[in-house]
Amino acid sequence: MPRPTGPALMEKLVALCKRRGFIFPASEIYGGINGFWDYGPLGAQLKNNLRDAWWRDMVEVPPLGPDGEPLQIVGLDSSIIQNPKVWEASGHVGGFNDPMVDCRESKRRYRADHLHVFLPSDGEGPGFAFVEGEADTALSKIKKAKRDRDQYRVTPLLSLDPAAYAGVIGPDTKEPGSLTEPRQFNLMFQTYVGATATQDNLAYLRPETAQGIFLNFKNVLDSSRVAPPFGIAQIGKAFRNEVTPRNFIFRSREFEQMEMEWFCHSSEAVKWFEFWSQARLQWWKDQGVQAERLILRTHERDELAHYAKKGAGTVDIEYAYPFTEPGHGELEGVAHRSCYDLTQHQEHSNKKLEFFDPQTRERYLPDVIEPAAGLSRGVLVLLADAYDLDESRPSPELLRLKPSLAPVKAGIFPLTKKDGLPEISDRIFRELRERYVVQHDIKQSIGKRYARMDEIGTPFCITVDHQTLEDQTVTVRDRDTGYQQRIATDKLTPFLAEKL
Ligand code: GAP
Repeated sequence: MPRPTGPALMEKLVALCKRRGFIFPASEIYGGINGFWDYGPLGAQLKNNLRDAWWRDMVEVPPLGPDGEPLQIVGLDSSIIQNPKVWEASGHVGGFNDPMVDCRESKRRYRADHLHVFLPSDGEGPGFAFVEGEADTALSKIKKAKRDRDQYRVTPLLSLDPAAYAGVIGPDTKEPGSLTEPRQFNLMFQTYVGATATQDNLAYLRPETAQGIFLNFKNVLDSSRVAPPFGIAQIGKAFRNEVTPRNFIFRSREFEQMEMEWFCHSSEAVKWFEFWSQARLQWWKDQGVQAERLILRTHERDELAHYAKKGAGTVDIEYAYPFTEPGHGELEGVAHRSCYDLTQHQEHSNKKLEFFDPQTRERYLPDVIEPAAGLSRGVLVLLADAYDLDESRPSPELLRLKPSLAPVKAGIFPLTKKDGLPEISDRIFRELRERYVVQHDIKQSIGKRYARMDEIGTPFCITVDHQTLEDQTVTVRDRDTGYQQRIATDKLTPFLAEKL
């Protein structure tokens, strides 16, 4: 059986994540809450490993620049809640909106820009709306109407005059005319700071980690030995009241971002934009994500975010998700934000945020190139990319995660519970746990223990058997090939160090 694709793969992944403790629906015992997810023991570990890899490669050991010199990037951890004026200045209060359309009949709500319509080319009969990537129901309605797909052209709902919605059947209805006109919906989550829930105390949960970086640009400049070109990086939660959270953790209402703002002179911005686009694409490949499932896509002019520089733009690093393939969906954006944010904050706060270059005597607000990745979305990419089936194994499911990202690095087993084997495996476990996340498992058949490790992506299984008693060697089984080799117990730490 080949590796499943599309909805079948999503179904398998979601089930595996639940069964093995990667990801659970939030508040599950109360019926859940749409758009929120909890990371279980293995999911939290996998997410932390991806987070740590990003932090190491961006902050602790940033890449070499185009001239081969090490780049300068410093870290930051700013507040989730900031003065609400921040979000007015950044444009989020006024402009961070998605168009939404309601269905009066099914009571469902859709992102208007995600809806498309099969429109009859001859103008005869109704149009059939569908959510992007989910055309099947609309196609079967066309078949039921005894019409042919070829008699229709596909057009985005938003390209139609709302008066024409009267002739459109919604994605979840049978009669036309139930879709409302699109309305703008602000994605910011609101809360109140202090004892009273008044307009004066209104505050927002940050919808991106980036603004905390702009707010601290001057603080970092004044307190650290950095000067443009340099970066400030931050990892943390962001919150968006998405109209239609969906596709598991792909679009949720609470998620984590890994963002870096690269401050540079405007004369060098294009060079850095190209550098970071390529460097970030390569980084995802280095995390083991298959190159043929990743693409770089340049944003169309009408897609650009309010801060993106017209003409210089944004590229997305996109992945062929099970719900987009053969198409792709966003994993990370690399945006040329110009000096938009610093200019806005300088104007709104009345505080000078300029950098003074002592060499050129120039005072300026730097341009910003921003690689903005989703950490939660990255976890989905790792899981979807790693999922595989190997029919030659009794339990065919396995996750081919990059060993250094796998939540558990090795499973340590005694072949049987007798003859002193568990004592030896326990000793190996105690030694290796000092350096790696490893598990000691003495229950069930060896086949079942291997299968469980394959399913959670553990790259190595170390088995103590009767030969160990004679020559102090163990078998080390490779997750991907099933190949087993004998290694002396005192060589296990260097073996893992090399592989991980
Ligand atoms: N500071 C720029 C910014 O926030 P974005 O494209 O809106 O840009 C960056 O977000 C990344 O954050 C996206 O590429 C995606 O990986 C992730 N992301 C955005 N919205 C998300 C959501 N609702 N759920 C999960 N991840 C999301």
